[in-house]
This record gives sequence, C-alpha cells and structure tokens, in this order.
Amino acid sequence: MPRLSSRVAGITPSGKDGWEVHFEAMTRRHAGEPIIMLSVGDHDFHTPEATVEACVRELRAGHHHYTQLAGIPRLREAMAKASAACTGVETTWQEVIGTPGGQAALFAASLAATDPGDHAIIVSPYYATYPPTFRSALVDISVVDAPAENGFQPRAADIEAAVRPNTRVILINTPNNPTGAVYTRETLEGIADICRRHDLWLISDEVYWTIGGNHQHLSPRSLPGMAERTLVVNSMSKSHGMTGWRIGWLTGPQAIIERMVSLNLVSTYGLPDFLSRAAIDALENNHGVAEIAARYAERRAVFLDAVRSMNGIGVRGSEGGMYVMLDVSAVEPDDEAFAWGLLNNEQVAVMPGRSFGKSASGHIRISLCQPDELLREAASRIARFAGSYLDRKIERRA
Ligand SMILES: Cc1ncc(COP(=O)(O)O)c(C=O)c1O
Repeated sequence: MPRLSSRVAGITPSGKDGWEVHFEAMTRRHAGEPIIMLSVGDHDFHTPEATVEACVRELRAGHHHYTQLAGIPRLREAMAKASAACTGVETTWQEVIGTPGGQAALFAASLAATDPGDHAIIVSPYYATYPPTFRSALVDISVVDAPAENGFQPRAADIEAAVRPNTRVILINTPNNPTGAVYTRETLEGIADICRRHDLWLISDEVYWTIGGNHQHLSPRSLPGMAERTLVVNSMSKSHGMTGWRIGWLTGPQAIIERMVSLNLVSTYGLPDFLSRAAIDALENNHGVAEIAARYAERRAVFLDAVRSMNGIGVRGSEGGMYVMLDVSAVEPDDEAFAWGLLNNEQVAVMPGRSFGKSASGHIRISLCQPDELLREAASRIARFAGSYLDRKIERRA
C-alpha cells in the first residue's frame, strides 16, 4: 500500500485525547446503565418544527438539484443579514460563503489564512478541533493559555509573546466552548490591536453568539480596522437547533470570499438544495432562536444555583454558550481522576478540563444539553461525590 500523506496522518495524532471518559460512558449507557450524559454538546431537543416543515415542503417541491457553489443567493442574503446582526457590521451577500456547518467554515478559514509552514496562535481552553484543523493545513500552532484565575479571558501580552515572524493568524472563540467565558471588550481590543500591528488575520468563531446569557454579543469584526482582517465563523447548529443539518457560513472581506468560492468548487460543490431553502426559512424567521437562547440561560441559572454553595467546587467562566466550567481542584487536582470517579461512583459523565488544554486542568466541563431536572440531579450527585471525596481525604490525613 502506498503511504498515507502526512497531511491526513497528522490531523489527529494517535494516542489519548481526553475523550476516554465520554466514550466509556457512551458504551455503558448503550449497555443499559442510567448514566447522566453531560459530556456532549448537542441539543437534547429536536430542530424547531417550523424549520422541519419548511424542509419537507422544499423537498416535496422538487428542490433536489445542485446549487450555486457559494450558496443560493437568497441564502447568502439571509446569512449576510445574520452576520450583520452578529457582528454589528453591515454585511453584503458577497461577503459570506455557505459551508456545511461551522467546522467547514473553520477549515476554509484556516486554508484561506495560511500557507503550509506558517504559524497560528490558538487560545486554550479551546474547542477540540482547533489544533487538528490547523494541522490539516500543515501549519505550526502555539497555544496560549487563558488563565482560569482570569475567568478564562486571554491576556493580550501572552498572545503577543507567541507572535513569530511567520505568524499569520490568531483564532479565538466567544462565547467560548468549553469555558462559557464571554470575552470582554478589553480582551477583544487587546487582540485586535495585535492583529493590526502585526498584520494578522483573526478567525473569530462566533457559533454561540445568540447564547450569550446576560451579555450583549460583541464581535471583534466591529472594532476599528478589523472588518478587513476578520473571518467570522457562524453556524445554524447551536443558534437554530440544527446540528445535524450541517449548515454554516464564513464572513470576510469580499475579495477573499470571492476567491474562496473555488474552495467550495473542489470540496463541497455547494450545499444541498432543499436544506438551503429550509435554512433560508429558518434564518429569515429566526425559528427557535429566542427559545433556544432562553432555554440555555435557564439551564445555566438552574445548574449554577445548584452548585454555588457546594464545598470545594468553584465556578469560572460559565457566562454563555452551552457549557459550565467547574473548578474541582480543591477536591481533586487531577480532573481526569475526578471525572472517572464521578462516572464510576455516581454515573455522571463529564469532560475532564485538561482535554481542552492545560489551563483547564483541575476543572470539569459540564454540558447543559439536558433538561432542568437532570441537571439538578447531576448537581446533587456531584455534591455527594465531592463531599465523600473530601471526607476520605480528611480520614486519610487523620
Ligand atoms: C466552538 C465551536 N466552533 C465550531 C463548532 C462546529 O459547529 P458545527 O460544525 O456543528 O456548525 C462547534 C461545535 O460544537 C463549537 O463548539
């Protein structure tokens, strides 16, 4: 057999990747154990009925054919309007390109911003696909820690210290997965300043922009001089409850987006016809957007209320998005040991923070993709587990 390219072989290096607790929990759940799954970021509810109906209608109407490479014009119009609302910057349809989900937009952005051998900066804790996305573009990565004690807000000076002569891009995500941190204006202004001074691209992943809790979404694209150097990743997965539909888009300067149509020529060849038309209906009418945002705000409040007074458990970030980050280091500094113990003793599956980068070690990520009652039940199991862990520690010391 001829050898596999280093481009593909290098995407996910073999070995442990931190997802072992989740996969074990899935296996046990399929075998019938009543495990509360708080380890995944997919909605526990279906796509809004109106979107589903629109899709069935369009499918029955015969929309089964190829579409324009960058997206049906009306879809691009609707995406541009959503981008304008998200970023606060007037956006034309020529400044957006449709992609199969936010991940494909991220992949397209990484290819647009870099050449092989270039360097990219990502902020930790990060969404798990960030490093492999750049590796697939044969790009070197530096990971800059957003300190837990800073509420997981990255410090501009730390990012600037990682800039090299061949750095081409910084990738950030707000509201953040996994920390739930919503970047402040000061954080974003500091990053924007670095991008302008070093002539860098900023890839801004804003797929959680509608789920910002009490925070008004602020996009770095709206800051002075940034529209020309920011590529914004958007998606219908989270905001519109459409994870399995695979519809997202990238927003950027028109000259760049025009050139990127050729990327769709050789990769996606455009989006599916009837899905695109249902997406138009969902975007133009905001199907589900307010309800989904309200549901996660309520869940966050319910869960945080339940954990706030717990012995030895702290909360960091956790302002927006679909996740809460608990600091468990006072109970057990080894977050993976904590997650395994919680699974084995209390049948609750969470992600060890370390899987998202070292600044999240000592933390666990809780997904809010379960109904309120289950979140309350999970919180009480976490309290019981942490309590018994601390008691045993005290016993060992006595
Ligand atoms: C931060 C972040 N970016 C991008 C994505 C990709 O989303 P999708 O490809 O479903 O649009 C996700 C999905 O969980 C995410 O959490």
